[in-house]
Amino acid sequence: MTTILGIAGSLRAGSYNRALLRTARELAPEGVQVDIFDLTPVPLYNADVDTDEQRPPAVTAMKQAIAEADAVLLVSPEYNYGVPGVMKNALDWASRPAFRSPMARKPTGLMGASAGTSGTMRGQEQIKLNLLGMIADVFAHKSVAVPRASEKFDDDLRLVDERTREIVTRYLADFAAWVERVTV
Ligand code: FNR
Repeated sequence: MTTILGIAGSLRAGSYNRALLRTARELAPEGVQVDIFDLTPVPLYNADVDTDEQRPPAVTAMKQAIAEADAVLLVSPEYNYGVPGVMKNALDWASRPAFRSPMARKPTGLMGASAGTSGTMRGQEQIKLNLLGMIADVFAHKSVAVPRASEKFDDDLRLVDERTREIVTRYLADFAAWVERVTV
């Protein structure tokens, strides 16, 4: 069983990115399990409490979940052409201690959904740079970028656009095959 920890960069209940992550869990190939870590309880980064004695429990739980997973899948909106604070904050916590963190050499994939036409491509490029900063292994692949999300999801936040479902399915199959190759 290949395990992927999915993390969404939006906290809102009606989030398309949270919905996209649930879709990824649903469309994962056989033998691949996507577990979802919710960032809601993760506080803002504070180096003063980033110690074994004082680290917030949600952060410890997130880092442990990352360490235990074979791979990480980040599914994030783009805010003002960049990485939303929610996602960047989680990555900052996860990246310590520098170069020896649970993200070091962690196979990591990216997806995103946006209301507009960009489909989060600019935000994803920034996340890739952040991932290089923590020496994560970034999956090189055509991105899953879902523009005009309101037209692709129904009112119950189910991904109903068939072409997008195919893209997500293909990405997950390719990602899982790559994770298997690099983690043996
Ligand atoms: C946005 N949105 C947005 N969309 C985009 O394609 N490029 C952008 O730069 C931005 N910037 C931006 C900033 C802020 C502060 C907000 C709140 C929104 C719109 C965004 O794509 C839309 O709100 C998505 O629905 C957010 O993702 P979730 O919450 O649905 O997952």
